[in-house]
Amino acid sequence: MNNTKEIIARLFAQAQSASEQAYSPYSGARVGACVLDDEGNVHSGCNVENASYGLTQCAERNALASAINAGMKPGGAHALLIFATGFDALAPCGACRQVMSELLAPGALVVSCVNETEYHSWVVSELLPDPFTLSRQ
Ligand code: THU
Repeated sequence: MNNTKEIIARLFAQAQSASEQAYSPYSGARVGACVLDDEGNVHSGCNVENASYGLTQCAERNALASAINAGMKPGGAHALLIFATGFDALAPCGACRQVMSELLAPGALVVSCVNETEYHSWVVSELLPDPFTLSRQ
């Protein structure tokens, strides 16, 4: 699926629902993310905070971990949608951009929604040009 509006129609409700599972007593931010893999399966995640703040897990990385756990191979998804309350189309954090670069297909679309009609979208390579990889000279 490579059209932003189709991705929203397919994933928005599930990302919103995932955001309702957020464990975020420190920031109050509720974030949900859904990955649509190339077999048509949807994998969700929410943000999970911790009293040791640096251990917080973002919704996007949790959704991608869930996809891998279900058998998706790296590069096996072309769409990831984010829904977050209280943000103006949340731009994914740097750590999530690195993980997206490795696990989504290179041309994948990342869509961040305020609601079903207000959103921002990027190709994953725009979010993190020239990502770190282990390929050497
Ligand atoms: N958060 C995400 O879930 N995704 C991001 O890309 C950025 C931030 C969460 C982490 C934390 O629970 C809250 O938003 C505030 O940083």
